[in-house]
Amino acid sequence: PPVETLLNLDEIEEVATKQISQKAWAYYYSAADDMVSKRFNNEVYKSILLRPRVFVDCTKCDLDTSALGHKLGMPIYVSPAAMARLGHPSGEAGIAEACRSFGAMQIISNNASMTPEQIVKDASPDQVFGWQLYVQIDRKKSETMLARINKLKSIKFIVLTLDAPVPGKREDDERNSVAGAATSVPSGVKAAERTSDDTPDVSGGSGGVGQQLFAGTDPSLTWQETLPWLAKQTDLPIVLKGLQTHEDAYLASLHTPQVKGIILSNHGGRATDTAPPAVHTLLEIRKFCPEVFDKLEVYVDGGIRRGTDVVKALCLGAKGVGIGRGALWGLAAGGVDGVRRTLQILADESKTAMRLLGVETVDQLGPQHINTRMTEQQ
Ligand code: FNR
Repeated sequence: PPVETLLNLDEIEEVATKQISQKAWAYYYSAADDMVSKRFNNEVYKSILLRPRVFVDCTKCDLDTSALGHKLGMPIYVSPAAMARLGHPSGEAGIAEACRSFGAMQIISNNASMTPEQIVKDASPDQVFGWQLYVQIDRKKSETMLARINKLKSIKFIVLTLDAPVPGKREDDERNSVAGAATSVPSGVKAAERTSDDTPDVSGGSGGVGQQLFAGTDPSLTWQETLPWLAKQTDLPIVLKGLQTHEDAYLASLHTPQVKGIILSNHGGRATDTAPPAVHTLLEIRKFCPEVFDKLEVYVDGGIRRGTDVVKALCLGAKGVGIGRGALWGLAAGGVDGVRRTLQILADESKTAMRLLGVETVDQLGPQHINTRMTEQQ
């Protein structure tokens, strides 16, 4: 069906699922173990209630915001996710084209299926990208990559992912490698920045896609060693991704000015199963170390399916909200237009929710607009 007829993110996922290869589906859909965190990431938003205020003029409403001082058209961004070309040939560059139409930010994965140069090639002057790093055991590889990233004007910050020093056990993905020949993906799709010795072409080879991509990733990272090393490789601001406790959010806040932001995330439930959803971590930070919100920009991702989910995260103090699978499903369902549709739906739903709450701008959203009692009792 034409993507314009799809009304919500679930419908887009349904269409995408029918169109892509079994192997690509399993890689995108899968999460660790029993997928408890993946499910809960979304369910937790349903346990937060909105508190609409009435008799307020809601003629106007806009989603304008910023990230690390850069203007954005909406607080919804695309999370770093590997291997977009498994879903559609336009790949990460297609996602970039869709983001351009909305002034939306995109974080490029270290394991993207296109080079960062290709992805930002047609960027508009005000388009905002981050680049996500998985530090390699062979540090020279990461240093060479960072030197390339430093030269790309569109890339405004580095995201260091910390929640997956080793990949989670993603059974849908691994089952596929066992099924072997029964699966097929477009040939030649691979992580553009990995050499053939650390990443075989994912259309062949054994092991799930996730397992293959993590070969060569350094599990020894620490606050003491890795942050000073990274600060030597780049002057770009650093954003730490994958924080899941108030303790770690607080530690991050001690590393300003290099660290300018954090992303609360459990990797879409793909790393530690039963790890908390970002909403729980937001609530912990609000309770135990609210000063973190003054020192760092706090982002969240995981389980975003509706504009009301976006709005609730913003009410709790998130500066922006990432979508991982949502963008990939959009791409798989309809290429650039599919991602545009995904972003349009989330933007429209977010605006409707804001207007019904009696709010005109993103900045006006706050804890007064939600009731988290059910979430806190869980
Ligand atoms: C991811 N994610 C991820 N994160 C990261 O830092 N680097 C990466 O390369 C990837 N790759 C990746 C691939 C796929 C297929 C998925 C689904 C996810 C995690 C991603 O950035 C984000 O945290 C989650 O996807 C958010 O959850 P939702 O929106 O998918 O529910």
